[in-house]
Amino acid sequence: MSRAITETMVRVEDVHKSYGRAATAVHALRGVCLEVRRGELVALKGRSGSGKTTLLNIVGGLDTPDRGRVEVDGLDLAGLDEDGLLALRRDRVGFVFQSFGLIPILTAAENVGVPMRLRRTDPRAREERVQLLLSLVGLADHAAQRPGELSGGQQQRVAVARALANDPALLVADEPTGQLDAETGHAVMELLRAVVHGDHPSGPPAALVATHDTTLLDLADRVLELRDGRIAGH
Ligand SMILES: Nc1ncnc2c1ncn2[C@@H]1O[C@H](COP(=O)(O)OP(=O)(O)O)[C@@H](O)[C@H]1O
Ligand SMILES: [Mg+2]
Repeated sequence: MSRAITETMVRVEDVHKSYGRAATAVHALRGVCLEVRRGELVALKGRSGSGKTTLLNIVGGLDTPDRGRVEVDGLDLAGLDEDGLLALRRDRVGFVFQSFGLIPILTAAENVGVPMRLRRTDPRAREERVQLLLSLVGLADHAAQRPGELSGGQQQRVAVARALANDPALLVADEPTGQLDAETGHAVMELLRAVVHGDHPSGPPAALVATHDTTLLDLADRVLELRDGRIAGH
């Protein structure tokens, strides 16, 4: 096995997160530990309210834990200020959300280009990469269409391409198939799997995908379950 496959991209140790105060506090996470390696797609299951979104947001640098340690791509997130977290989200994490999150007035190509604009990638390199990514997700012929002119499955493919724009170390997907029919959802999950298992110049990313669609769990390399704020069986 090559070194790239075994490299730990996400390390979560004893993470706690509560919302609210005292008697009315909701303890969303109560000591979560997990690891995800490069080239590995880990599915996170658990009923609604079990803390999946909270955990993904913390791992992706969108939220901070009350306690515990989170490392992404070898970086201890506790050591990052707001700018550092911004750079983490821009440069090392690709997000895919249930509701796609595309910008309606931009074309598919422009949406995919947004993260590269934020990083001030040279326009020519950006255009080339946009074409490459749209081809990768099977939408080369739809580059000029706006989200409203695409199906849900196509929109989510654009979102996956956008998530890959800056060659992230980690893909975070929160119920990425939640708004899609079963067949389309399966295709999107297969796409995520192909991305994580594919060839990448700088090594494959890791992926952490929250889903409560049990039919998709077969496509994961590993399935973890959140229950009562902890990973079940740990
Ligand atoms: N911003 C918030 N304020 C208060 N409570 C929250 C907030 N976000 C999540 N929660 C609570 O934390 C728990 C976990 O929520 P969440 O992480 O969204 O779970 P899941 O994604 O598995 O459905 C739930 O009880 C939810 O109501
Ligand atoms: Mg959720």
